[in-house]
Amino acid sequence: MTTMKENFNIVLCGFMGCGKTTVGQHLSAITRRKFIDTDEYIEKKASLTVSDIFSTYGEAYFRELEKTCLTEITQNFNSIIATGGGTVIDKDNVSSLKSTGKIFFLDAPFEEIFSRISNSNRPLVKTLSKDELKNLFEARRGIYLNCADFVLDAHRFHKEICDVILKSKDTRHLTLPN
Ligand code: S3P
Repeated sequence: MTTMKENFNIVLCGFMGCGKTTVGQHLSAITRRKFIDTDEYIEKKASLTVSDIFSTYGEAYFRELEKTCLTEITQNFNSIIATGGGTVIDKDNVSSLKSTGKIFFLDAPFEEIFSRISNSNRPLVKTLSKDELKNLFEARRGIYLNCADFVLDAHRFHKEICDVILKSKDTRHLTLPN
């Protein structure tokens, strides 16, 4: 049984383009909880965009920075945290997130995700082919499923997703009303 403490953080995870930031901003507006986007936090800390961190210092450096930022971010309570698509691939990051929050996986089909991200300037989208992104999506989906306290179908309107997140308790697979 999965229950959520009142002041626990709501953590959103999933592949690039699944709607973590948009859903997080909506949730924050509805609940008046603080919204923290891990990529934005990293960008402020590094005074560089995520793209520039990847191109100048490489992905490994970005992951180190991401981990350091996560330990700071998870000192917060009562917040909405939108993670980056790769954040929960690291087990330590998952432990940090779980120490003060519950993880919600926004699950959406690859083709839908791809249509949302294909024109974006995310570093991995610029460097990987569609097939490579699909392989990454498939490899990561199992990890998202594994770490999530709640799994929900993100192939829906953001407002509906927010409603379901806010009503969540006692069940892992959240179903959206028809
Ligand atoms: C990444 C996803 C990005 C960002 C970075 C790496 C990934 O965040 O953290 O480009 O590894 O999937 P979004 O999921 O918010 O696009």
